[in-house]
Amino acid sequence: MSNDASPTLAESSFEQPPAAFPMMSAYMPMVKSAAMTSAAELGVFHFLHRQPASPLDAARALDASGQGMQSLFHALASFDLLIRNGDGTYRNAPFIEHYFTPAAAADLTAGLLWNAEAMKLMTGLTDAIRQGRPAESMWATMTRRPGMGALFSRYMEAFAGYFSADLLQHIDIPAGASQLLDIGGSHGLHAASLCLRHPQLHATVFDLAESLTQTPRVIEQHGLQARMTLRAGDAVSDDFGSGSDGGKFDVVLLLSVLHNQTEADAQDIVRRALDALKPGGLIVIHEYFHDPANPGRYAASFLLTLLVEVGTTLQQPDLLQTWLRDGGCRTIRRVDMQEEGKGSLLLAMRDGA
Ligand SMILES: C[S@@+](CC[C@H](N)C(=O)[O-])C[C@H]1O[C@@H](n2cnc3c(N)ncnc32)[C@H](O)[C@@H]1O
Repeated sequence: MSNDASPTLAESSFEQPPAAFPMMSAYMPMVKSAAMTSAAELGVFHFLHRQPASPLDAARALDASGQGMQSLFHALASFDLLIRNGDGTYRNAPFIEHYFTPAAAADLTAGLLWNAEAMKLMTGLTDAIRQGRPAESMWATMTRRPGMGALFSRYMEAFAGYFSADLLQHIDIPAGASQLLDIGGSHGLHAASLCLRHPQLHATVFDLAESLTQTPRVIEQHGLQARMTLRAGDAVSDDFGSGSDGGKFDVVLLLSVLHNQTEADAQDIVRRALDALKPGGLIVIHEYFHDPANPGRYAASFLLTLLVEVGTTLQQPDLLQTWLRDGGCRTIRRVDMQEEGKGSLLLAMRDGA
């Protein structure tokens, strides 16, 4: 080992030739991601959920070329995402069947559809690394690009369906609570789940207008038209409502919202969210905590995604807890989800009930 801790030539050289052409480590994940995304856009996984099919039958049913579909099937099978039957037809592999078809507890197909947008945004990565931010935040892009906000909301809705049971397990709605505010609530599924569980609860879903296009459908699907209200606005600048002895809400949700803001804006949003809470009310923050010196693969990927999409970073739990204490919360509980990618919750009560 040399003194400056940089690897010597002997340490960095391979004793064996690599098992594959080194470019494969970048090329194969890209092709796998693109093939899964195209399969979702064409409806391949849902089609094969209904019946096994040959590439030609799938091409005919899904309005694609036979050659294209055959190449797609071969690629998906090579990644163990499709399985070839003895008669030459294909079926979904169990992983696909369980997470990307109507058989899933929460079909994540919308995540693959969003992936098509995410891949376009990733083309700005080098510039974003140079500049420290994207040329334009994706929230601004959404105001110009019809359909982009809806795609993102549908992905968030799919994730919310996947995450909902964990969330409900940890949220204890205060007794007698009647008003909930879901800031950056998008699809509204979390607010809807809480309304279904607590029949006295009414919810306001607050978000950018582009992110509220799917919410009326979600509200209608759950029959909550009389108990859920939409409010389009900007959490950075709009008032959530407060009075001299506290706000009108018993519960405020800030779920996966604060990492999309600068630290100063996030702090201000937390302050105003607490002002909107009645004394004794509950605030729930969902975030992704990490060790800045060694974030680990998931948080590191998320940080790069935030850089290229919004130009922000993940918030630190100590800072969030300080803001909550400064806003009058003495009781703060942290829950770390076990599954990678599900993040953590901070649950705090505003003092003075
Ligand atoms: C990652 S999504 C989370 C959606 C939802 N809370 C959930 O957990 O599924 C972040 C949400 O914050 C919203 N958002 C971002 N900036 C906002 C702003 N300035 N004002 C209001 N909402 C904002 C986005 O539109 C989006 O719906």
